[in-house]
Amino acid sequence: MSATDPVSPGNAVTAAPRRPSLLDGLPMLEDLPDLAGKRVLVRADFNTPLTDDGHGHRRIADDFRIRAALPTLAWLAEHGAEVTVASHLGRPKGVPDPRYDMAPVRARLAELFPGVTLLENLRFTPRETAGDPGLVEELVAGQDAYVNEAFGVSHRAHASIVGPPTRLPSAAGRQLAREAAVLGGILDAPARPFVAVVGGAKIADKLGVLRSLAARVDVLAIGGAMAFTFLLAAGHRIGSSLVDESHVASARAILESGATVLLPSDVVALTHDGVLVTSGPQQAARGQVTVVGQDVPEGWRGCDIGPDSAAEFARAVSAAATVLWNGPLGVVEDDRFAAGTRQVAEAVAASPGFTVVGGGDSVGALDHLGLAEQVDFLSTGGGASLELIEKGDLPGLVALRGAANAPAPANPAPR
Ligand code: 3PG
Repeated sequence: MSATDPVSPGNAVTAAPRRPSLLDGLPMLEDLPDLAGKRVLVRADFNTPLTDDGHGHRRIADDFRIRAALPTLAWLAEHGAEVTVASHLGRPKGVPDPRYDMAPVRARLAELFPGVTLLENLRFTPRETAGDPGLVEELVAGQDAYVNEAFGVSHRAHASIVGPPTRLPSAAGRQLAREAAVLGGILDAPARPFVAVVGGAKIADKLGVLRSLAARVDVLAIGGAMAFTFLLAAGHRIGSSLVDESHVASARAILESGATVLLPSDVVALTHDGVLVTSGPQQAARGQVTVVGQDVPEGWRGCDIGPDSAAEFARAVSAAATVLWNGPLGVVEDDRFAAGTRQVAEAVAASPGFTVVGGGDSVGALDHLGLAEQVDFLSTGGGASLELIEKGDLPGLVALRGAANAPAPANPAPR
């Protein structure tokens, strides 16, 4: 099924305005001048999860983002370019920090694609996040072209993202272009019914996207800790579950917006004195666990959607023609609270519709279950995919469309 299948008639929920395609006016690799013998700067998002190998050495825990950039690197090499890659890794405080140097990434990249140079972590200077023009000049010096293959950070107006297209012929990498095509497609013309499942802990990070989705989807299923702010807004008791009191009114506004919002109808709860395991072996897990309804009793905290909710969410997913999933539905690191996410992951994988999954935890859950291959599109961006859905565009895409070699937009209507 295609992400751009036409909207079926009779859908009353969506009021999203028509916008030009995100790809309109976006320069592709083919829009670059002849690259034989030329130098190309590639901004990648190699911000990969790292683990300790037990001997104090950092290792790449998941090389998904590196592998996603390989087709672009291969295309550039085939066209004779000499490639320099730049990326950030983690959130160092604007100074060199050995915990965040690029060595583990460099080692993995050399295994997967030898022959490219990888610069040191861009965030070892505060000038990157500040969008400093001086850093832009340093990055583009000696380069003949620029490629943005860093979808995951294209929602940030950082120097390496928005600066080089003002100075060099520029292009979207293959993965970046695919992200724009797929996410733009489900914004503009999703096959219906369109079901979004959103989880995660922090409602503050996802309010914008929840509002945007509520206006676009046929069903918005909400799980994860943020569901308790919604349950509270709907008048339920939440015991000692995580809640963001400052966003109860916003949650209520979404519930009252006319959108079809699916909240958990039951909850897996842990006694107040219980101990959650948030990484590694499960031995430290403690406390009583029980399934309660939509009202969580005093002394208990909700840690996962319950079995009835998981079945309801899975049913909604199975009936959808387009599925977007972002964020875990419970504390997946603790085995006792992983079942809801597992069931939804299985439903997403089995869905006959077009399925899109974003966010490291959801992609990780699919990977862990061996289901990642069964999803139509895994986004390399967590925050970036949410911001694209919320705002309809990203600073990194806007910058590329402004490059001197960008094609004229076919439809230059205002976004
Ligand atoms: C991500 O992991 O979402 C991207 O690499 C962006 O990282 P940041 O949130 O630290 O800017």
